[in-house]
Amino acid sequence: MTNNDATLSIRGLTKEFVTPEGANFIALDGIDLDIVPGEFFIMLGPSGCGKTTLLRSIAGLEQATSGEIWLGEDRIDRLPPYLRQVNTVFQAYALFPHLTVRQNIAFGLEMEGKKASSAEVKNRIDEMLELVGLGDFGTRKPSQLSGGQQQRVALARALAKRPNVLLLDEPLSALDLKLRRGMQTELKRIQIESGITFVFVTHDQEEAMSMGDRIAVFNKGSIVQLGTPRELYSEPTNRFVAEFIGEMNFLTVTLDGGMVRTAGGNHIAAEAFLEPPTGVGTVTVGIRPEHLRVAEGGTFAGEIIASQYVGTDLRLCVRTGPEEEVWARVDANYTGPSSIGDRTALAVAPRSARVVRA
Ligand SMILES: Nc1ncnc2c1ncn2[C@@H]1O[C@H](COP(=O)(O)OP(=O)(O)OP(=O)(O)O)[C@@H](O)[C@H]1O
Ligand SMILES: [Mg+2]
Repeated sequence: MTNNDATLSIRGLTKEFVTPEGANFIALDGIDLDIVPGEFFIMLGPSGCGKTTLLRSIAGLEQATSGEIWLGEDRIDRLPPYLRQVNTVFQAYALFPHLTVRQNIAFGLEMEGKKASSAEVKNRIDEMLELVGLGDFGTRKPSQLSGGQQQRVALARALAKRPNVLLLDEPLSALDLKLRRGMQTELKRIQIESGITFVFVTHDQEEAMSMGDRIAVFNKGSIVQLGTPRELYSEPTNRFVAEFIGEMNFLTVTLDGGMVRTAGGNHIAAEAFLEPPTGVGTVTVGIRPEHLRVAEGGTFAGEIIASQYVGTDLRLCVRTGPEEEVWARVDANYTGPSSIGDRTALAVAPRSARVVRA
């Protein structure tokens, strides 16, 4: 559907802001990144980590302090925004309230400068309405649409220009949870059907995991890990990612000649580790809640201090020592002791624990 065959390459991109106090603040710290054609790429990170700044730099709405941005063979970081073959959908997706859905989509096309015939414009609008599932809504005004439908019009308007790359900055954050889930599925479908590269910014890890082909996890202006959702979940390279993607118990342990002893006084067997830690000293061990199950004689024995039934599973928090608590996700149909105050024991699944770097 598009001539989308250009890799978006970011090289050593740095952005410094001067704060009102006159200090330099580094919002982006030497970002290197290649986003391949047709990819659904996610930039994920907490508030203030630089996601919007990077997106605005790619769009040309922000001038980077140093570094380069390339789209295929073309260096684009010095081009004005309208010459960059990229298009942006922002969180506040400002549709024109006095125009119909069709007129809103046409607006983007007519602004392009190069004259398209009215038949071409009509066909293009029909195609876009079909793509976003709004074939019957062309004559409505934005006020006559739901939030999710308005979001899809904004998307259609941005896609109508056939950009090489579509930049989306938290476009779903205004929608309620249910609508948001539906739009995530829609967006993924639209991305695959259109073949356009999507660069999607979010601070919601579940949203990132559900749509992204690859995810770059940002913290304080840098990429801390880049990988597929599966890689980030199963092989987080540091504590920040392990904490940000999914849930994980962190335990301070001391190592002594093959013995792994937690601060709470529990011994974790070598079999519990993918790679058993060696040497002597103190490290942090991470264990996902779903890798713990109730088992008599299990590693972590103690009193249940929280018990939450969440439909899909039962979440138990067990005090396993002084200042040591461990969360487990057990089968929702589990009928053994599971009330606050009950005693239980948790076993660690084989090869599921890992040493986590700070
Ligand atoms: N014009 C500016 N002057 C000074 N600092 C700025 C400016 N714009 C952004 N910043 C700072 O740069 C950092 C990154 O901002 P950015 O908007 O990129 O964050 P973000 O990751 O998009 O966060 P959020 O998830 O909250 O949208 C923030 O600490 C912000 O305060
Ligand atoms: Mg932002």
